[in-house]
Amino acid sequence: MNAQQIRDKYLAFFKARSHQVIPRALLVPQNDPSTLFTGSGMQPLITYLLGEDHPEGTRLVNSQTCLRAQDIEEVGDNRHTTFFEMLGNWSLGDYFKKDQLEWFWQFLTKEIGLDPDRIYVSCFIGDPKHDIPSDQESADIWKQLFKTSGIDAKEVNIGSEADGYRLGTLNGRIFFYSDKNWWCRAGKAELMPEGEPGGPDSEMFYLFPEVIHDPKYGKNCHLNCDCGRYIELGNSVFMEYQKTKTGFIKLPRKNVDYGGGLERIAAAAINSPDVFKVSLLWPIIQKLEALSGNSYDTHTNSMRIIADHLRGAVFLAVDGIAPSNKEQGYVMRRLIRRAIRFALDLGITNNLCNQLIPVIVSLYDKDYPEVKSRSQSVLDVLNKEELLFRKTLSSGVKELAKFKAISGQDVFKLYDTFGFPAELTIEEASLNKIKVSSDWRKQFDHLMEEQRERSRTATKGEFKGGLADHSLTTTKYHTATHLMYRALRIVLGDHVIQRGSNITEDRLRFDFSHDQKMTAEQIKQVEDIVNQQIDLDLPVSWSEENTKEALDSGVMGAFGDKYADMVKVYTVGDPKGEYFSREICGGPHVERTGLLGENHKKFKITKEESSSSGVRRIKAVLV
Ligand code: ALA
Repeated sequence: MNAQQIRDKYLAFFKARSHQVIPRALLVPQNDPSTLFTGSGMQPLITYLLGEDHPEGTRLVNSQTCLRAQDIEEVGDNRHTTFFEMLGNWSLGDYFKKDQLEWFWQFLTKEIGLDPDRIYVSCFIGDPKHDIPSDQESADIWKQLFKTSGIDAKEVNIGSEADGYRLGTLNGRIFFYSDKNWWCRAGKAELMPEGEPGGPDSEMFYLFPEVIHDPKYGKNCHLNCDCGRYIELGNSVFMEYQKTKTGFIKLPRKNVDYGGGLERIAAAAINSPDVFKVSLLWPIIQKLEALSGNSYDTHTNSMRIIADHLRGAVFLAVDGIAPSNKEQGYVMRRLIRRAIRFALDLGITNNLCNQLIPVIVSLYDKDYPEVKSRSQSVLDVLNKEELLFRKTLSSGVKELAKFKAISGQDVFKLYDTFGFPAELTIEEASLNKIKVSSDWRKQFDHLMEEQRERSRTATKGEFKGGLADHSLTTTKYHTATHLMYRALRIVLGDHVIQRGSNITEDRLRFDFSHDQKMTAEQIKQVEDIVNQQIDLDLPVSWSEENTKEALDSGVMGAFGDKYADMVKVYTVGDPKGEYFSREICGGPHVERTGLLGENHKKFKITKEESSSSGVRRIKAVLV
């Protein structure tokens, strides 16, 4: 049974049990500014789960298109995708645990034909602090269901995820977890805002015995381990609580909120731990194999990323989003550009969207007619972004043609600045008869490792305090300083020369020659110009240049600085075409100005004052 048939079967199964089929909501939530994307089927139903009557009644079912942008970096393994469909059924104060678990069991084992012996489940262990009991009721129902297949299901108390890695599976079948089996939109009971609904949940997992546990995830494999041996197929949330100032109260009605990943269930149905083998993704991979002449076995990662990202981008376009530097549009831009970049690894250097989008459209046009009716505009929107990005990439090719010999550092620079994959640089170099140093790979790997180390530090910081790592933030301010320096010259005149600069993770500070207080209007103009360059998402690149020639051609420097014969020049924009600024500088800078606008940040001048005679001082932030 393929994924499309499973979707139909699921809807029919619940329709036969008096559920109304409701349409999917758009990927961009309506009237809900709290999240960028619809990430689960219950999100559009929140008011009904809180107690309002739904016009279609108390039993609902659908397949909801979802996007989880936080999973972008995880795509590449066998089961993470940014875009997916969530099969969902809801009881709004109607049936509860017994019907829900029985129906789910029946659907998976009878309708889909999954092997009961490979099914494992989890239940809520209880939360004494908030006076919420253990969900023994669900465990008892599961025990009965397993018994119907001749399985004597052993219960095991685990606790936290860390306890899971410590204890393993202990021959259990029904496992009790704490946080892992409490569901709410905020993720954890402690993080729930007042008024938010949530409740204990019970999850079902499918065992793929051929996947061997990798201890890098933790000592022992357990149900919630990340190694991919147990894959979660569905989650029944028994939503009967609401957060208050002091703890939890019961909602007016007991609800069921069930959600299960269509692609994962379809993968289990074809006995594959790899979701990319299912009928809603595999044809995209096959097309990539045909176009590139490479096989999925040797280019697994790249093909998975392209298939996932373009599929997500197609649905974003269907739902009315266009690539931009903000919010949903920014995520869409990242998806498309990552897909194009990884396609280069396969040797696909043009027409990626033209060739793949018709395949993606054909997978959905019958079940989602809007995909068919909007396919031309989808193609236009994605093609436009592809062309734009390829222009940036081709600057990389031009850059390459200038080299007489290529070192590992050059390969890295082209990768870092233009997204040029290493192998492509080497290939291009040999086509152009450019000499490549024999140890380029070693040098390149070393620089990549250094960069990885930097971004690891950055991510760690991000998780710690909601803030980026200091060095990354400082780098952004450094790039912002270049933008502002140039903007000051545009607004005030060419007499503006840098007299000093000091950058911390909290702000930039910049001293420059100018002998009058800036007017409010001038300050606003400078801010606007800088923010425009951020919105344009210009590339930032550097090259080594002859100092005299650089200064003669108008490259900016700082007052009194002494330079060597050759200097590094940083360019914002296209160094050979239209650029915004060129400045002598040692770096480092961010790759693109758009990064400065991440998380809706804007450049803002917070202070303008006199520093010394004829010199002004500005402090500015990204907020
Ligand atoms: N809302 C629940 C989930 O997303 C079903 O897992």
